[in-house]
Amino acid sequence: MVCLGNICRSPLAEGILKHKVEQHGLDWHVDSAGTGNWHVGELPDHRSIATARQYDIDITYQRARQFRVADFEHFDRIFVMDTQNYRDVLRLAQNDAQREKVKLILDLTHPGENRSVPDPYWDDDGFEHVFQLLDAACGKLIQP
Ligand code: 4NP
Repeated sequence: MVCLGNICRSPLAEGILKHKVEQHGLDWHVDSAGTGNWHVGELPDHRSIATARQYDIDITYQRARQFRVADFEHFDRIFVMDTQNYRDVLRLAQNDAQREKVKLILDLTHPGENRSVPDPYWDDDGFEHVFQLLDAACGKLIQP
């Protein structure tokens, strides 16, 4: 799960998907990262923590990290939150196999619409909406 800062959207996506993976007894390795490095080592944004907590999902174990080229090898699928993340991650890809792993996460719920998860960083009210978008997308991932 990849966004810009790895403190708002992708930590929620990681927490939601891990929660569903546990509920379904799956053996998937789920992680998140940011394309930028400004927040490396930080906890998720307090608003993401609070929103996840409302759904009994704890994301306080997470620490922001930057996406790295090695992630293309470590993960089968790379979900990005918006079209800017998509461009930034694709720029790091070294071959077609790596490029094909990268998808907009909202393609899971809205295929072909090129939709982005809005960045809630400047919008205190945006976190619940982001949670719902990501919860639906992660649901599709578990049960297509
Ligand atoms: P995220 O949100 O990409 O969902 O983690 C942001 C976090 C920080 C900033 C922008 C977006 N920032 O400009 O610091």
